[in-house]
Amino acid sequence: MLDFKKIITEKISDVIKIDTEEIENYIEIPPNKDMGDYAFPCFKLAKVLKKSPVMIASDIKESIKLDDYLTNIENVNGYLNFYVNKQKLCKEVLKEFNDKKEEFGFSNIGNEKNICIEYSAPNIAKPFHIGHLRTTIIGASLARIYKSQGYNVIRINHLGDYGTQFGKLIEGYKKWGSEYDLSKDPINELMKIYVRINDLCKKDENVLNACRNNFKLLENGDEYCTKLWKDFRELSLKEFQKIYNILGVEFDSLRGEYECAKETDLIIKDLENEGKLVLSEGAKIVDLEDKKLGVCMIKKSDDSTTYAARDLSAIKYRAKTYDFDKCLYVVAYEQALYFRQIFEVAKFLDIPEKCKNGLEHIQYGMTRLTTGKMSTREGTVVKVEDVLNEAIDRVQKIIEEKNPDMDNKDENAKKIGVGAVVFNNLCNTLIKDQVFDWNQVLNFQGETGPYVQYIYVRTKSVLEKLGYIPEFDEEYYTSLQDKASMNVINYLYNFGDILKSVTEKNETCLLTRFLIELAQSYSIFYNENKIIGEQKYIQDARAYLTYCVGMVLKSGCSLLGIEMPDRM
Ligand code: ARG
Repeated sequence: MLDFKKIITEKISDVIKIDTEEIENYIEIPPNKDMGDYAFPCFKLAKVLKKSPVMIASDIKESIKLDDYLTNIENVNGYLNFYVNKQKLCKEVLKEFNDKKEEFGFSNIGNEKNICIEYSAPNIAKPFHIGHLRTTIIGASLARIYKSQGYNVIRINHLGDYGTQFGKLIEGYKKWGSEYDLSKDPINELMKIYVRINDLCKKDENVLNACRNNFKLLENGDEYCTKLWKDFRELSLKEFQKIYNILGVEFDSLRGEYECAKETDLIIKDLENEGKLVLSEGAKIVDLEDKKLGVCMIKKSDDSTTYAARDLSAIKYRAKTYDFDKCLYVVAYEQALYFRQIFEVAKFLDIPEKCKNGLEHIQYGMTRLTTGKMSTREGTVVKVEDVLNEAIDRVQKIIEEKNPDMDNKDENAKKIGVGAVVFNNLCNTLIKDQVFDWNQVLNFQGETGPYVQYIYVRTKSVLEKLGYIPEFDEEYYTSLQDKASMNVINYLYNFGDILKSVTEKNETCLLTRFLIELAQSYSIFYNENKIIGEQKYIQDARAYLTYCVGMVLKSGCSLLGIEMPDRM
């Protein structure tokens, strides 16, 4: 598609001798169309050029010739405001849309580069808590967006399926397994066993030793212990899968900590070769004091592996297996220091330099429920399945009240309820803590998932009423030059850029914001422009624009993991 920003960049760089990339970075999209389509703030150059911003602006303005693409330039207080040819822009957008349809906005800028995205990573035999919900939603949507930009994405679920707690769980199961029915609510039952054995360990040293021994046996591949561990893992995964199914989330790899633990020797060798492994009170550590990052323990004094060792082993494995350019970790900000430590230690591993530089922690904030409960790393009383089901129930009630005759009620309630929760998890800067308030999340008129779905359904019903989707026509742009139509077109034009910037900043709110604004701009267009019953050509042009908007809302939502209802 025509890149107006590039065109303007080139024109400016013909006049002032500054790096084109820098110029392009300075160019802004003004908050308000009365200030042009693009703006160039000249005060950023004042220092280098030793001239006042107003002077610079007027020099540039003088030297740039207006043409087919650029219809006007204004110099306003040191800002240059550029106006692009509306007709060209509109024509371009419609043509591009007609060519690419569902894939409008997609690109190949990723060049098939390998990007590992790690998300979800719940712990076996422990509840999938509200924090896990967040990483799952964020990670899955980043994965889809990266894919849309031509990256080769590897979606990894680094399962917490290892640790000394399994020694205890095995002991508890040995003792009382028959008292518990693991077929119904396995995670809850396993938790009960765990709590009970933990209590006993505190009272009885012998039991504690038996647990330790189980863990050793598990580490050494003992058949019985491994079988139990496998069962616990299977049962837990089955439970997690229920949530993944509701959310439509998938993975390419479920290689968790257990597998990583088996290969920690490799990273220990690397660290030894680099002379980085130090003995400290029987444990093996890497000293990061020079980086003010404390110490990172790799092996405990009883020779068992640490969480960090397993993560480093995962890095080595991923570097070898996927040859990644980037490896993103969608994990709560509580683990920020930890990730800085292991990324620092990873510099001493024998892996390609690009992998070392590609490690990135995507931090997200806590979810606070309005009931006052907060998610913690230890898990909380709030079950994720219950949250999702409550969302669906609440939507069902709203539908019963407002539109009891709706077709596909259940199906639609699920899409709206789950969509609302998903959207809410993605619509702010990720690192911010979020307050989860049902009234806000499900507000059909707010800046929410349901609002975007609502406008989508409106585009659908316009086309249904019309009874056909108009054939594309090169000349539609001639009927779409009014302010409201052009505003919609402008948003559509930016869709690809928005997706690209999500991959640059790893912030999903860029896309949620875009979808809200596109929906709002359509709502204004719809209120100001008659569609059905207009003169045929105008009717078709407006209906075609409606069709574009519907499809972009749908594909944008689907990248986030939100499905569209057919009625609302
Ligand atoms: N399983 C961990 C938890 O639930 C999160 C794992 C994060 N990923 C990692 N590579 N350390 O807290």
